Amino acid sequence: MTLKTVYIQTFGCQMNTADSAEMMLALSARGCISCQNAQKADVMLINTCTIREHAEHKALSLLGRLRKWKEAKFGRVIIFAGCAAERLGGEVKKKFPHVDIVCGAKSIDAFDKIIEASGLFGGAPAGAEPPAESSPIALVNIMRGCSCKCSYCIVPYVRGEASSLDFDEVLKNIQAKLDAGAKEIVLLGQTVNAYNYKGKNFAALLKEAVKLNGLDRLRYLSPHPLFITEEVAEVMATEPKIAKHLHLPVQSGSSKVLKEMKRGYSREEFLSKISLLKKGGIWVSTDIIVGYPTETEEDFKETLTLVDECNFSGAYCFKFSPRMGTPAFSLKELPVNIVEKRLDILLNKVKLNAKAAYKAQEGTIQRVLMESPHNGRTLSNFWVRTEKPYKTGDAVELTIKKAEESILLA
Ligand code: SAH
Ligand code: SF4
Ligand code: F3S
Repeated sequence: MTLKTVYIQTFGCQMNTADSAEMMLALSARGCISCQNAQKADVMLINTCTIREHAEHKALSLLGRLRKWKEAKFGRVIIFAGCAAERLGGEVKKKFPHVDIVCGAKSIDAFDKIIEASGLFGGAPAGAEPPAESSPIALVNIMRGCSCKCSYCIVPYVRGEASSLDFDEVLKNIQAKLDAGAKEIVLLGQTVNAYNYKGKNFAALLKEAVKLNGLDRLRYLSPHPLFITEEVAEVMATEPKIAKHLHLPVQSGSSKVLKEMKRGYSREEFLSKISLLKKGGIWVSTDIIVGYPTETEEDFKETLTLVDECNFSGAYCFKFSPRMGTPAFSLKELPVNIVEKRLDILLNKVKLNAKAAYKAQEGTIQRVLMESPHNGRTLSNFWVRTEKPYKTGDAVELTIKKAEESILLA
């Protein structure tokens, strides 16, 4: 069997990163090895995102450019996978005939069968071993899909309805990653804290996961504010291994807009979740959508005051992007200049808040988990750059000497 080298380009969220790793495992079992140089690769795997129009464009324009790449060497293979592949389906091959394999996000579990059916890869050799973990961080899927159907969001359509993975299987999976050398585990799902497997909820999973051998730190992504319960906040506050940080997307500070977005909580309810988390010493960052079609100047001001009230340690701000098939697609968009102006104002505010959050770390002693010799993260998810080098994967106690724009120096 000939050995094929694979270059992977992953767009989108951590779930896609986890899916890319899963697909690479299937390819390794068929005698492929990963490679960091696209020019030397035989196989190009593009794992795509379609959350906003821009994300899909990026993947498609790369795909267009890859025609020349494919022609440059006989036998090259292009795999187009993920959320944009799910949305576009058969259209992809029609428009880009140089694509060999399309594997939509809902079919990642069937990826091995799909590559086998393509006839482009050899059979699975007996006893193929998964490669050892090289990063101290391992991603573990605990849920698939999303059933929230927020009015603007395409995820439920490309990833399907929410389902929780088997409780014991998840724990086994985590233990396997720890045994392979991971120190930090990141639990993944689009509404990860809505996890419920046969009555065992997310808090129960957290409580079991922290007991596993070899675990240094536990995080999770992306939680939905609706499912932040007192029980979850309590476990987070009291379990020393659980990160004292949460990326909790709010989307808007206006109760009216939140209702139209079908987020399921009001501004006040979100604020009360924040105070619950802050009582436990947890820092919060967020996602915000600017220029939702019905967002008035007043609604936008409410987003600004919410940002100030929450003191987010960071926020990703996105311009509303209409996605075909979602309820918000048919709404009349706001003028671009208004949206851009609002985005500018919001970004400035977010930056000031983040700066203050970083500044507040100065002089404190933090346990930093090193992700490379000079870079690591605190338990509250602040990035740290160290003067001295440390071993990747080691957790070190460091005094924070100074806070720069978005990094702490130690
Ligand atoms: N499941 C997570 C978010 C997943 S998508 C949650 O519900 O919180 C990541 C982020 O993309 C969202 O938080 C939202 O801010 C943004 N987003 C999703 N759809 C969008 C759209 N149509 N336009 C602009 N931003 C969008
Ligand atoms: Fe999209 Fe809403 Fe589901 Fe998040 S919770 S993935 S924003 S539908
Ligand atoms: Fe994008 Fe799919 Fe994630 S649309 S944000 S890669 S779930």
